[in-house]
Amino acid sequence: MSDRALGFRRGLTAVSVAALAAACSPGIKKKEKVEDPTPLLETQFAAGFPKGYESWKRANAQPIVRADTNEVRHLYYNSKAMTRTKGPFPVGSVLVKAHHTLDKNGKAGATFQLSVMTKTGEKQNGGWQYRAFNPGNKQEVSADAEVCALCHTQAQKADGVFSAQ
Ligand code: HEC
Repeated sequence: MSDRALGFRRGLTAVSVAALAAACSPGIKKKEKVEDPTPLLETQFAAGFPKGYESWKRANAQPIVRADTNEVRHLYYNSKAMTRTKGPFPVGSVLVKAHHTLDKNGKAGATFQLSVMTKTGEKQNGGWQYRAFNPGNKQEVSADAEVCALCHTQAQKADGVFSAQ
């Protein structure tokens, strides 16, 4: 499955499922599309693999060395996220936490996971979607979004974003 398909599938709501079903019966296809733009918005911003994240703005000045979990982390913000001045991040913001192995010189080794926050504006988890990806095959790996969100509420003053505090 392509990254795009993954993001699309993940973003499907009851409404968009209805719209898709409607799309199979030509008579009401157009009407459904025009009447409810919400599924489009959601699928557009559903957290897929964060293509090209390495060229985004790095949010950490120094590598984040975590001896406890044996890793080095780097954080990236897409251009939409960079438009935030204060308050909530705008819909379309994508933040990436890249997890690297900690090599024996204390430096970042291979990237083994990407943890991704995407601002969709949906009600749950403060409007953020939390997902994790394998950077090798670009597929989603299982992660409990509730657990991500629970820890990130500690940064609630900065809309759940630790590095923006
Ligand atoms: C136990 C607490 C905890 C959990 C659970 C957690 N995070 Fe984080 N996350 C952090 C902290 C702390 C940072 C700041 C950077 C650092 O120290 O690693 C962070 C940073 C991030 C960032 C960069 C934006 C920011 O907040 O600075 C993203 C993206 C992210 N995490 C995604 C996730 C996802 C997705 C999950 C679940 C798969 C997750 N996190 C689970 C604590 C947590």
